[in-house]
Amino acid sequence: MATIVDPYPVYAQLREQAPVFWHEQMQSWVLTRYADCREVLRNHEVWARDWRRVGAELDEDRLHIQLQDPPEQARLRSILLNSLNDRGLEALCLRARADLEARFTQLADRESFDFLNEIAAPLALRITCDLVGMTAPSLESYTKTFDGITLAMDAGLEPARADRSEETREELAALMAAGFADPLPGGMIADLLAHPECHTMPERYVQNSMGAIFNASYSTLYATAGSVLLELLRRPEMLERLREPHLLKSGIDELVRFVSPAQGTGRVATRTTRLGDAEFKRGDVVITLFAAANRDPRQFPDPDQLILDRSPNQHLGFGWGPHVCIGAELALIWLRVFITCLHEWPGRLSLAGEPLYKHTATLRHLDTLPVTFRH
Ligand code: HEM
Repeated sequence: MATIVDPYPVYAQLREQAPVFWHEQMQSWVLTRYADCREVLRNHEVWARDWRRVGAELDEDRLHIQLQDPPEQARLRSILLNSLNDRGLEALCLRARADLEARFTQLADRESFDFLNEIAAPLALRITCDLVGMTAPSLESYTKTFDGITLAMDAGLEPARADRSEETREELAALMAAGFADPLPGGMIADLLAHPECHTMPERYVQNSMGAIFNASYSTLYATAGSVLLELLRRPEMLERLREPHLLKSGIDELVRFVSPAQGTGRVATRTTRLGDAEFKRGDVVITLFAAANRDPRQFPDPDQLILDRSPNQHLGFGWGPHVCIGAELALIWLRVFITCLHEWPGRLSLAGEPLYKHTATLRHLDTLPVTFRH
C-alpha cells in the first residue's frame, strides 16, 4: 500500500542499487535510469513496441498504431496527429472550461465533493468526445471500460487483472463503431472519414487506432487533473506563483514530470544488445519506468522538488521517440486552461479530506480527492 501512495522511494532505491532489475513475476527487466529509458524509447530498431517483430502473433482485427513501430505505424500516426492538431485545441479546452465553471457553480455550496468523480471524470469524457467528434457514452459505462483497460495494464504484476481485458476491448471497439457510424461534424472521426488515405486502410485498424486515442485521452486527462490538483492544493504558494505567464508554461510541464501519470511502458529486444553493462537477448522484455526516470538526479537536479521554472526539462512524462504522446499539446493546453480557471474563479478550492490512490501501477491516479470551496 505504501508503494501505491508513494512509489518514489522504491524507484530511487532501484535506480541506485539495481538500475537494470530482473522482475521475476513480470518476466521482464525493469529500467529506472533516465539515460537507459530514453535510449530504449528512442531506438525502435532494437527495442520494439510491436511484439510481432519477435514472432508473436496478432489478429489483424486488433491492430492499432500503438502496437506497431515505424515505418508501418508512421502513415496513420501522422494523419491522426495532423487531424488532432487541426481541431482548434484552445477553443475545445475553452468549451470544457465553460462546463468546469458550471460544475463549480453547482458544487460551490456543498460541504465537500470528490474532484475525481464530480469534475475530472466528466470533463475528461467531454474533452475526449469533443475531440473525437462523437456522442458521449454514459460516464458510468465508460468508467467501467476504463477501469478494465487500466487494470489489464497491470496484468504482469497480477494476472487476474487481465480478466476483463477481452470484454473491455470489445466495449471500446463497439463504442468506436458507433462513433464512426454517426460522426459529429468537426471531430477527428469526421475528418478521418473524409481523408482519402484512410479509405486505403482496413476499417478496423483505423477504428481501433481511434479507440487507442479515445482511451489514452480520457485516462490521462482524468488521472493528470487529479494528481496535478493535489500537488497544487498541498502547495498553495505554487498555485499562486503560476499566475505569472512564464511560470505557468514551464510549471505545467514540470507538473507532468512530477506526477508522471503514465508510470511506465514495455518494449522487447529484437536482437542481442547492450545498455551499459547489461546484455539483453532477442525476446527480452524491458519496462521503462518513466516515473523513475523523471526523478533521476543525473538528469534532474533536486528531482523530488517541484521547480516551476526548471530548465532544461526533457522529461519522459509524455514518452520519447516514435511513440511519443500525440496528445501532449492538448493535455498541456487543458492544464493551462484548468489552472487559469482556478486562478480566476471567485472561490478557492482546498483539501477537505484524505486523498486516496487507486491500486494501480501503470496508470497512477487518485480514486478520491475530497475538496471544498467552503472555508
Ligand atoms: C497529461 C496527459 C498525458 C500523458 C501523461 C500522456 C502520456 C503518454 C505517454 C508516456 C506515451 C508513450 C507510451 C509509450 O511509449 O509506450 C503516450 C502515448 C500516446 N498518447 Fe498520451 N498522454 C497524455 C495525454 C494524451 C491525450 C490527451 C491523448 C489523445 C488526445 C493521448 C494519446 C496518446 C496516444 C494515441 C499515444 C500512442 C502513440 C503511439 O504509440 O504512437 N495522450 N502518452
